[in-house]
Amino acid sequence: MFIRVLGSAAGGGFPQWNCACTNCKGVRNGQIAASPRTQESICLSADDGDWFVVNASPDIHSQIETFGPLHPDTSRTTPIQAIFLTNGDLDHCLGLLSLRENHRLIVYATDSVRRGFTEGNVLYRTLQRFAGQVTWQTLKLGVEDTVLHADGSPSGLTVEAVALPGKPPIHLEGLVSSDDPELNVGLRFRQPTSGRVLAYFPAVGRITPSVVEGLKGTDCIMFDGTFWSSNELSAPGFLQKSAEELAHWPVGGSEGSLSMLPKRSALRRVFVHINNTNPVLREDSQERKLVEAAGWEVAWDGMEITL
Ligand code: MLT
Ligand code: MN
Ligand code: ZN
Repeated sequence: MFIRVLGSAAGGGFPQWNCACTNCKGVRNGQIAASPRTQESICLSADDGDWFVVNASPDIHSQIETFGPLHPDTSRTTPIQAIFLTNGDLDHCLGLLSLRENHRLIVYATDSVRRGFTEGNVLYRTLQRFAGQVTWQTLKLGVEDTVLHADGSPSGLTVEAVALPGKPPIHLEGLVSSDDPELNVGLRFRQPTSGRVLAYFPAVGRITPSVVEGLKGTDCIMFDGTFWSSNELSAPGFLQKSAEELAHWPVGGSEGSLSMLPKRSALRRVFVHINNTNPVLREDSQERKLVEAAGWEVAWDGMEITL
């Protein structure tokens, strides 16, 4: 299985258009050791030239252009077989609307995520310009299913959605039940021929026994690295909400994901969905050193992993 990080930042990207925090300013003027990042997405392949994209970021256009294997060979085609959504946040779904050029799309999502994107959304009509423009494949919690190519043949990968603590997307707050387990999932991709498993968990609101269980038997975990600390947005006065209230469990601290998650050294462990305020973005920061000393990596746009 081959994985390429298309985007590694949280919503807003790095730098964020309206932010002049130490990181955003520093990366703009080249005065910190950090690289710009687009909004979180990966693509993966069972090494056969066909690709699956996980999360359709608002930056999908440039993300496709920066990775040659995602380019079409002939006009009006694509090696992208399907797109997976882990939740309905705009930084994971908005890119679908950018893929509107009369092309059939196959989207894997839970029923709740599908409804949240399609119902009452007048913009969704742009993906209904011909019958069958979008085919939704339903991700069912706890069920391992064969991932299909666009032509319906098996891809050599399976997928299982794992319910993760989360919250509704901001535009659905108050409209949907916030404890629907289908609102936010992690995806376990398995390649039966090699036995390799990737767990892609980009939004984790709390570390529960079922989160830890969902990470078992994996070769690589890509995990929510949005915030280092609980008060990362509230301390500088950006937003009066804690990381936990935003359903992103912090990385640092005695109960942070860095200390709570499995420490198996053979396991490739990568933080993704990194907010522009997070000190781990600075390659020479103390926090970055702690992450690396614990055997974790900080994803960057263009990072490639072979499992
Ligand atoms: C999140 O990760 O919590 C969302 O992307 C937030 C947002 O939509 O602004
Ligand atoms: Mn996000
Ligand atoms: Zn910033």
